[in-house]
Amino acid sequence: MPLDSKYWDAIAAQFDMTREIVPFENGMWGMMPRSVLEAYRRKTEMVNRRNSFYARRQFDADLEKVRGRAARDLGVALEEIAFTRGATESLMTLINGYNRLKPGDAVLYADLDYDSTQAAFDWLGVHRGVDVVRIALSEPATHQNLIDTYEAALKAHPKVRLMLLTHVSHRTGLVLPVPEIVAMARKRGVDVIVDSAHAWGQLDFKLDDLKADFVALTCQKWIGAPVGTGLMYVRRSRIGDIDAAIGNGGFAQADIRARIHTGTSNFAAFLALDDALDFHETIGAPVKEARLRHLRDRWAEELRGRIEILTPSDPRLTSGITSFRLHGHTSHAQNIADAETLLKRFNIFTVERSGVASGSCIRVTCAVFTREAEVDRLVEALRTMAG
Ligand SMILES: Cc1ncc(COP(=O)(O)O)c(C=O)c1O
Repeated sequence: MPLDSKYWDAIAAQFDMTREIVPFENGMWGMMPRSVLEAYRRKTEMVNRRNSFYARRQFDADLEKVRGRAARDLGVALEEIAFTRGATESLMTLINGYNRLKPGDAVLYADLDYDSTQAAFDWLGVHRGVDVVRIALSEPATHQNLIDTYEAALKAHPKVRLMLLTHVSHRTGLVLPVPEIVAMARKRGVDVIVDSAHAWGQLDFKLDDLKADFVALTCQKWIGAPVGTGLMYVRRSRIGDIDAAIGNGGFAQADIRARIHTGTSNFAAFLALDDALDFHETIGAPVKEARLRHLRDRWAEELRGRIEILTPSDPRLTSGITSFRLHGHTSHAQNIADAETLLKRFNIFTVERSGVASGSCIRVTCAVFTREAEVDRLVEALRTMAG
């Protein structure tokens, strides 16, 4: 595996990253490497020049090629994925469109799930007459106690019919044992919507590995495509369980694309997903995953004990994202202040995260362009702050 520093310096050199700060908040959206940015620019110019002559006569065919490419990367059939404008739109479509809930059923989510998906599950409580069960995941988490926590919750709440799983948590970076939890839920007749926003492009997996029927993905984080690009997966046999969009007129009921109606889209952004996949596949998912975990371990395992590291060391449960807090600093205000100190004193940019049952924290997200020297700078800064 090309894991030597020369290889990674050459990768980092392909990103025109600002040097105003040392960037450790790479989880909001993924910077495009130069090759993707240039392709996006070229494609924007082409679409603009050819205007509706292109959009009406050729875009659909070109988009189908990109959809086929994404399906191959994910290891699923073309007919099982549809483009969206990001994981949020995919998740809202899946949650709102899921048509198997009856009043009196229950739905379940956890503290680490994404804020707007939690809100959407709460919405189901109000608008679909279902009970909403909220759980907190164990800390410290282990592969087995995560499965056990979900199983115990489903046993305690036998009316749960739908639950949410966040593959890689945006709050702490924890990676859930998705296939095991999905299999356990299936045995109990519970459907699962998997939020893989932070997983595709970061972890090495195919959608089939997850065993899930409903998955939300984004192309604008770890695949490095332009902002405004996402995907929704629904297993072929389950497409009827998600309602068609209210504005659908163009696609047959059985077509997954009938579930999303977004109007005129950013043509060039979707076309540039092809270039982003070129870049992603050139490095390769296994190498990316190993590099991101290596960078994460370099600071998180080095500092474990000196500060609170919110994810365990088990590589099955870690990603390039990990959150920490200084001992006892569990409040939102303390973590806002600590993130500000990291920025003002050490020029290191991170982000505060709330919503974890044990308290607030600071999220550190490494990227493929993160250099080891930058990680070492973070370690020094956090050692100083920890005292
Ligand atoms: C866990 C998680 N799910 C969903 C999303 C939404 O993704 P998108 O920005 O593609 O809509 C995010 C974005 O930060 C996220 O962290």
